[in-house]
Amino acid sequence: MDKEFSMLRNKEIVIGVTGGIAAYKTAELVRALTKKGASVHIVMTKNAMEFITPLTFQTLSGHPVIHETFELFAGSKIGHVALSDIADQMVIVPATANIIGKIANGIADDFLTTMVMATTVPILFVPSMNTKMWESRIVQENLQRLKEAGYDFMEPGIGDLACGAEGKGRLPTIEEILEKMEDIFTEKDLIGERILVTAGPTTEFIDPVRCITNRSSGKMGYAIAKIARRRGADVILITGKTYIELPRRDITIVEINTAHEMRNAVMEHYKNCSVIIKAAAVADFKCKNENYQKIKKHGTNSILSIELERNPDILAELGRLKGHRILIGFAAETDNIMEHAYEKLKQKNLDLIVANNIAKQGIGFGSDNNEVSIIDPKGNTKHVPILSKDEVANIILDSVKKVMKKRQRLKEDWY
Ligand code: CTP
Repeated sequence: MDKEFSMLRNKEIVIGVTGGIAAYKTAELVRALTKKGASVHIVMTKNAMEFITPLTFQTLSGHPVIHETFELFAGSKIGHVALSDIADQMVIVPATANIIGKIANGIADDFLTTMVMATTVPILFVPSMNTKMWESRIVQENLQRLKEAGYDFMEPGIGDLACGAEGKGRLPTIEEILEKMEDIFTEKDLIGERILVTAGPTTEFIDPVRCITNRSSGKMGYAIAKIARRRGADVILITGKTYIELPRRDITIVEINTAHEMRNAVMEHYKNCSVIIKAAAVADFKCKNENYQKIKKHGTNSILSIELERNPDILAELGRLKGHRILIGFAAETDNIMEHAYEKLKQKNLDLIVANNIAKQGIGFGSDNNEVSIIDPKGNTKHVPILSKDEVANIILDSVKKVMKKRQRLKEDWY
């Protein structure tokens, strides 16, 4: 089942490849884009062909690769014009100091630079170069010029560079590039909102070695944080320990272990937020007496009892404090799902609750997919069939948007 949610599906993407060592990574980007259902066309500069062959790109994209200025397409149109006409987005990966300098100064002396001048679709530059080149005044001035002209950019990553140096200049990861491309296609309907998302499990320590935690992977909360940011919201993600990649570099991340730490972080940040989405699986209990030395098995009976005490219910506390903020909870249930979820919505004074059947195979904990029901205070229910967590996140945010619109209408009627 391919249910992946992507704005890149059925889009015509033109990738410009220039002569940098990171050009080999562009091959991976082409694969990832075709997997998402995009149709990819490659334009290479002469220097790019010193690093990777057109045949590699032709094989991966399934389209002829363009690398000559006056190559003709089938039909009568000049190549760059035809490609500009069908393109939905253009991305230059890697973008060298040379291509940045040429375009900033209006030089159009090969197919790629000519096409950049001729196209009106969004163009994303993904630079990669030696740190000193990146930091040089001339490159920075050229970048500034291109930014002012409305081009999109990604900041290079920091780390080991192919030239042996260490610093800023690495090509961002393929996931980061894909996310930025998705971002460019996404309508920014959450601009001006500040959304707090909690995700992942909490960890309650028994001793310095052992802990009580749960099976939450954090994927649902991370998907909500990522899609909310994609839609233009400022996002704060308060997360327990997970084994998945952080969703984006432009999200504020607060990492915590225990439910108490999560509560403190939430209480510190919620006041500045318009929406709070509590996707975290918070441990309801912690050890009454945490042992600061490892509990040894010798000298104990065959049964060890650990006394547990209740953790704070963060969501219930927020329900009392929320004021005008929109508050969304999750309900992890195994039986009587809708009844239990609705009860939680009422008890915790929520605006929406997302009910999850955690006993069902193939969804929920650890899975990339989920199937949920979104319930409002009147009991209206939207069933979301099994979909990728990104898509479920998008639908949850659509429901949040509906609550916002309803409030806006009420406010307008009032005046
Ligand atoms: N939650 C919370 N603090 C807790 C427990 C839960 O903020 N100490 C939040 C969760 O983040 C979730 C919602 O409350 O959004 C419901 O969590 P869930 O584990 O389904 O239910 P509980 O309220 O803990 O009730 P029970 O375990 O009895 O089902």
